[in-house]
Amino acid sequence: MRIDIISLFPEMFSPLEHSIMKRAQEANYLQIQVTNPRDFAFDKHRIVDDAPFGGGAGMVMKPEPIYRAVESVTKTVEKATRRIILTCPGGTPLTQAKVKELASFEHLVFICGHYEGIDGRVREHLVDEAISIGDYVLTGGELPAMVMVDAVARMVPGVLGSGASAPEDSFYNGLLEYPHYTRPREFNGWEVPEILLSGHHKEINRWRRKQSLKNTLERRPELLENVELSAEDKKLLVEIKQEQAGG
Ligand SMILES: C[S@@+](CC[C@H](N)C(=O)[O-])C[C@H]1O[C@@H](n2cnc3c(N)ncnc32)[C@H](O)[C@@H]1O
Repeated sequence: MRIDIISLFPEMFSPLEHSIMKRAQEANYLQIQVTNPRDFAFDKHRIVDDAPFGGGAGMVMKPEPIYRAVESVTKTVEKATRRIILTCPGGTPLTQAKVKELASFEHLVFICGHYEGIDGRVREHLVDEAISIGDYVLTGGELPAMVMVDAVARMVPGVLGSGASAPEDSFYNGLLEYPHYTRPREFNGWEVPEILLSGHHKEINRWRRKQSLKNTLERRPELLENVELSAEDKKLLVEIKQEQAGG
């Protein structure tokens, strides 16, 4: 997958040069490139922002350098396989389902705003969609772009390696994940659940599914409304509720 990021601050993307993201790029599962719209501001002072029409505080990022920067990274890739995304607090909220959808494209372009944001014509005419990473406002779109790139990269086959799998993770199947434990068996008097040491894989899988349902019921009960529960899941939920009620 190819990912282009349009940002005034390319040096902020060093977190993508470590760990799994680094290996994914080295192995060519991902090609990530950051383009600075300032390189596409052709006036003498390479101005990329200006005061807002109508007055008010803050500076607004001008549309032309962003338009040209996006054009420069999209001209070689088919439109059908591409998605141009504006990072924006007022965009569609990011969810795992949205991450999965983004991962189905071959080429993603993320546009990072700064200051008061970007000239409205970019959202109106240039991008396919605007996405928010949560109901709060950050100083720029660099962290949201990195959050999305990281989440999408995990969905790209090969990126997590053979030992890890996304389908087991929280949200992937609509539920929160079960807890994990490793050595030592006992630490500080805290024991790992006995069942995990039993070697009974069927029982372990049942226990994990139950913990997953329990965590979801206790911490994010609204998620259960959108999950297709099997007959066994329903039985486990009854058990969990009986245990919670002390029965
Ligand atoms: C200070 S913010 C601008 C906020 C804008 N004035 C508003 O009220 O919606 C600057 C840039 O940060 C990015 N940004 C901030 N919060 C974000 C969020 N929750 N999700 C996605 N992008 C965000 C966007 O690119 C935005 O253009």
